[in-house]
Order: sequence, then structure tokens, then C-alpha cells
Amino acid sequence: MWRVYVARKIPDSGLELLRERCELDVWTDELPPPRDELLRGASRADALIALLTDRIDAELMDSAPGLRVVANYAVGYDNVDLEAATARGITVTNTPDVLTETTADLAWALMLAAARRIPEGIEYVRRGRWRTWGPELLLGVDVWGRTLGLVGLGRIGAAVGRRARGFGMRVLYCTRSERPEADDLGWERRDLDSLLSEADFVSLHTPLTPETHHLINARSLALMKSTAVLVNTSRGPVVDTDALCEALREGRIAAAGLDVTDPEPLPPDHPLLALPSCVVLPHVGSASHATRELMSRMAAENVLAVLEGRPAPNAVNVAGTRDRT
Ligand code: DGY
Repeated sequence: MWRVYVARKIPDSGLELLRERCELDVWTDELPPPRDELLRGASRADALIALLTDRIDAELMDSAPGLRVVANYAVGYDNVDLEAATARGITVTNTPDVLTETTADLAWALMLAAARRIPEGIEYVRRGRWRTWGPELLLGVDVWGRTLGLVGLGRIGAAVGRRARGFGMRVLYCTRSERPEADDLGWERRDLDSLLSEADFVSLHTPLTPETHHLINARSLALMKSTAVLVNTSRGPVVDTDALCEALREGRIAAAGLDVTDPEPLPPDHPLLALPSCVVLPHVGSASHATRELMSRMAAENVLAVLEGRPAPNAVNVAGTRDRT
């Protein structure tokens, strides 16, 4: 029987599928496995289901002689050293598509929540401060009819853009290459600086790479309108947190909605959390029951494909094969 280490308790659909053919070692704590536990689990595994909180690097791979596949339970895989995996013949897979619409919904939830000051309103009611209808109570910025700027136009960025139609928004996007299908929708391509200065809502959809680290920094925030809202559902380090704090504190942009932060988690006394104009969620972009079940099944199917010698449906590298030692 193949041995699969699962770095957290994930929804049942995938685990059930794996149980038919594999011996499972599941880390069931709420917190990620400590490094030595992860190394221990990987060291005797043929396959690893990893989370974005687990650093899967060359050291781990070298201590896992039988490891043939790392199925990352996420669409992003910046936690995995892809080059090291490829060099060692280890296939790395992710969970694209199944989480696209769910994550796009959450980006919109953040956009609306930040623009219309929803968390402040909830707090206001809960604290018993609601005494009458107020003509100037909790005024925010409009979403409908405004301009949405998408930084990155992968599956999730495009799904966020499609939702803008119902809000009568103009859509701008910034990508490295031409995207005729976006132009066909009437979306307009811009370079990053132009997008930042024209958009009322800037939504980030880039993977985290050395090039996108701190893509949004003091300089780029200074280009944005003072009424603009920044939304990040990609990866925390795409934004320079200190620069964002400063921009929000000084009212250089109106608000931010963040599902991802740097660091993650944010400590409760972090200055960002003291700013009412910043809505922060604990990285729950893909967190619906249905989507997490689909992600679980997809990760398991990728594991089984590699172990059975078939091409992994969602491989993000071309790893060749690794003989079991
Ligand atoms: C992903 O899949 O990369 C998300 O960030 C997890 O919700």
C-alpha cells in the first residue's frame, strides 16, 4: 500500500478516495505540523498532500526518498520549491478551477464590505450605538458604475471581472501578454501605473513570485485615487504591508479589503487591525463546503494518478518519474 502524509485534516471526499488504495497519515491538529513532524511524515511517504502553510523545500524532499508527488491543497504553490521538486523527479500539483468562482465571490464580498463599510456598520449596531437614521452615517464609496482594475487576469481575476457586469462597471486589466478574449468583453488593457491611477477598485490576482513581491508598495499606492479601494485575495507579500498601513492611516486611499496578509496570520495587535478602513479576513477565499470538498478530491486524484503511473491532471511541473527507493 502506498503511504500518503496529509498535512492537515481536509474534507472527506479526497481522504475516502485515498483510503481505498493507500495508508494515510493525517496530521489532525488545527495548527500546521511543526517542521520536524512534517519532515517525519514526508520521510516515509510516497505522496504528500500539503497546505499553503507548509514549506516544501529541498531539505524536505531530500529527507523523503520515496516521495513522488506533492499535491498542494491550493491553487497557489509558492510554498513549494518547484525547481527542487522537478530536479528530484517529484510531481507537484495544485487545485485550479474548482475554487475560481468561490474565490471571486469573496473578492467581491471584500470589495463591497470595504467600500460600504460593512464591518463598521455591524460593529455600530452590535455596540448599541444605533439610535436613529443618520444622513451622514457611515458614508462609503459607490461600487456600481465605477472602474475596476484587475492586476493579473488568470482564472480568478477573470471571474472577478465577469461579476462587474452586473454592477455596470468599466473593467481595466493589467497582464504581461495580450488577452484578446478580455478585449472582446470590452475590458481595456493598461500598464500597471495607468491602471492604478484610473481604477476606483484595484483587485490583485497575481501569483507570488520574486517579480510580484511588494508589487503594491508606497510608490504604487501613491498613484491610486484617494477614493480608491484595494482588494487582495492573492498572496499577502504582493502588498507591502507597512506602506499600505501608512496609505490608509493618512487617507491616501479610501479602504482595503484583504483576505491575505503579510505576515499571515496577522497578530491581533497589528496596526492594520486598528484601522477601520481595513477589512481583514483570515485567508478564506476558497472556504465554502462544496469547494473545499472538490479541492480535496482533486488533490487525491492527483496523488493517485502519479502513484499509478498516469499523468497528473493538475501537474504544475514536468517532473519525469522518480523510482521508489
Ligand atoms: C489558494 O488556493 O491558493 C488559496 O489561497 C487557498 O484558499
